[in-house]
This record gives sequence, C-alpha cells and structure tokens, in this order.
Amino acid sequence: MNPIILSARGLEYSYPGGIVALSGLDLEVARGRKLALLGANGCGKTTLLLHLNGTLKPSRGQVLLDGAVAGYGRQALNVWRNKVGLVLQEPDDQLFSATVEQDVSFGPLNQGLPEAVVRARVAESLETLRIAALAERPTHSLSFGQKKRVAIAGVLAMRPAVLILDEPTAGLDPQGVAHLLSALEHLCLAGTTLVFSTHDVDLAYGWADDVAILGQGLVVCQGEALATLADAERLRAAHLRTPTLLALAVALGFGGGPENPQPPPRTPAALIARIQSSRNESVKRPILQFHPKTGPTGTRHREEPEMTGNQQPEHDHDHDHVHEHQHEHAHEHEHPGSGSHTHAHTHTHVHPHAHEDTNPHPKEGDHGAHDHDHTGEHGPHDHAH
Ligand SMILES: Nc1ncnc2c1ncn2[C@@H]1O[C@H](COP(=O)(O)OP(=O)(O)O)[C@@H](O)[C@H]1O
Ligand SMILES: [Mg+2]
Repeated sequence: MNPIILSARGLEYSYPGGIVALSGLDLEVARGRKLALLGANGCGKTTLLLHLNGTLKPSRGQVLLDGAVAGYGRQALNVWRNKVGLVLQEPDDQLFSATVEQDVSFGPLNQGLPEAVVRARVAESLETLRIAALAERPTHSLSFGQKKRVAIAGVLAMRPAVLILDEPTAGLDPQGVAHLLSALEHLCLAGTTLVFSTHDVDLAYGWADDVAILGQGLVVCQGEALATLADAERLRAAHLRTPTLLALAVALGFGGGPENPQPPPRTPAALIARIQSSRNESVKRPILQFHPKTGPTGTRHREEPEMTGNQQPEHDHDHDHVHEHQHEHAHEHEHPGSGSHTHAHTHTHVHPHAHEDTNPHPKEGDHGAHDHDHTGEHGPHDHAH
C-alpha cells in the first residue's frame, strides 16, 4: 500500500437547516493512485470533496495531510490548497477571468511565482489538457467541455500533489471523456494523486485503482477497485449496480477466482481479446450448462473451427448460453433487459477509447518533482458556505 497522502477521520457536517451531509466519514487517499468516490446523487460526494481541500470545515472530525492534522488558519489553508487542488463540477463556478490564459495564470500568480515561471506553468497546463489553441479566447465563449478543461488546467498550473475532481466526466461527450481521461492518466503517471467523484460504476471499474463507496454521508467500504466493485450487495445497498464489463466478464467465465486466476478484463478491448483467445484455444473445453441441444443441465464440449483474431464469427443461432450458476456471482448482476441469461454473442465491432490500452494500475510516481510555493492568497475558488 502506498503511503497515505490525505485522509479524513470521522467527518461530520450538516448544512443550515439541519441537513446532514456527512455523518462520521472516514477516507484514505493513497499517494500516486487514482481513487474513485462512488456514490448515488445526494450521498455527500461534493460535500466531502469540499472538506478535502479545506473549503468546508467539519463540525466534528479531522482532515490529515501526510498524516498531520490540517488547520483552518489562513496560512495553513494556503499550504493545504497548494497541495490539494479541487476542480468543481460546474466550470462556471470556477472560471472568472476574462481569457483562458488569465484564468489559468491566476493560481500560480497567487502562489507568488515569478512571471516567467507562471508563463511556463500556464503553457504546460494548456498543453496537458490540449487547449493551447484556446489561450486567447474569452472564457465565456467556450463550450462546456472546453470550459471544463480550462478549469482543470487552472488547478493543474498550481501543481497540486493531489488533484481532486468533482464528477469530471459529467456532461462530456465520449471523445471529451476519452481526452480527459488520457490527460489525467498522464498526470497520474507523472506522480499526481487523483481523487474523483462519480456515480458511474463503469468509469470507476475501467479507470480507478481504488474505490470508496459512499452512502448517506459515510464511506461504506474502500479498497482496490476490483474487490470493491465485485461486492454486488454493497453496491445495491448504495443504489449503484455492478459495472457492465465486470458482470459480462463473470458471466463469460473471466471473473477470476481459483480456476482462472487472471483478473477480469477492465476494458472492452481486453474483454474482446479474452473472448477471442478463448475461442482460439485448440483444446476442447467444457462450456455452458445450458444449451438448446443438450437441455438445461447438459454439459457439452464445443468443437469449433479455428478463428483468427480478425474473423468475425458467424452470427447464427448457436449462441453460447452461459448459465447463471456458472459463476457464484453471476446471479447477482443486474442486466437491464437481458433476462435471466447472458448471451455471449461475439460481435467484435468496437471503437476503442484512447485510454483503453493504458495500464489501469500505473506505478507509484515521483512526487519530488512537484514544487509547492505557499504564498498564495487563496485557492482557485472560495466558497461562501
Ligand atoms: N448548499 C446546500 N444546502 C443545503 N443542503 C445541501 C447543500 N448542498 C448539498 N446539500 C445536501 O447535502 C447532501 C449531500 O449533498 P452533496 O454533497 O451535494 O451530494 P452528492 O455530491 O453526492 O450528490 C444532500 O442531502 C444535499 O441535498
Ligand atoms: Mg455532487
């Protein structure tokens, strides 16, 4: 386990009117990892994130930075916000300068950095988010996706050790999501710790290293993404569902476990590769406990023509019907509209995302490269809560 860079202990917080948002929440953020805070609407994700950079102060409990209790004095908050950057869900809540360049400069200027350094930081941040061409544009004229990237660039320019993003993919189109994730992956590989909130179980499964499931103001469980997201019962209790890829992998027999210790695939491309390679196996393998030709309890051995990776299988009616009890977890997964079987059609026409080939588990990065100057007035946003 990587060292804990940021943690919360017993956080309690209520909004005016007695609305309880956090009720004794514990969380640990491991350095250099990507942590998804996964929870349904209204479970307290945003409130938690606002605590993690000191924007909100808990009525009880503590936030710890590198193991030391964080303070709420002016100086302590400056140190905190230079180390932990928060990107709000709505870019309009974060952007306030006239142009993109001015907005992204704001943080590093506040950190008291020399102008040349600020310019270099801004150029680097815009480059990372692939928005260098927007530098001169008025922020109000940008699209939602562009604004979102500018908001991230502005926080990035302060070189936080921990970058926190509230629902970063919400409102982006598929290409926008792919671009964003690839930029964030890049940052993580360079050593930045990432924490992001989402209700998207598929995003958490495909991209996070660790997952904390939130329910009603508490972290109900936290751990490695796969182990956490394999707990269907817990997900259901938090008004979430099993990630589609994981459910498919389990139904197809790629769910891991003693007989097949390879962990389940985390991307569509990886799942397809597993399906194809299992079809290419020359040995006969027992399949399927339900088949129209043998009945519901029969087991047969399939003999198929050898296939190359490029061949599209015939789409006949000889589907592989994977019975639910083929895997102990299979029955727990909800497949809207899929009935009681998972049909293993082998259509392989997919458009891989830009991040599909990236390693979902990058190694620990070098944090020493981040310099932190603690002379800023305040973070990129001050909430009037
Ligand atoms: N500014 C606010 N005033 C009053 N209640 C709020 C405010 N913001 C959030 N809440 C309440 O706090 C709880 C947690 O909200 P929030 O942290 O926004 O959840 P999430 O981000 O997971 O959707 C909800 O019950 C929500 O209605
Ligand atoms: Mg929220």
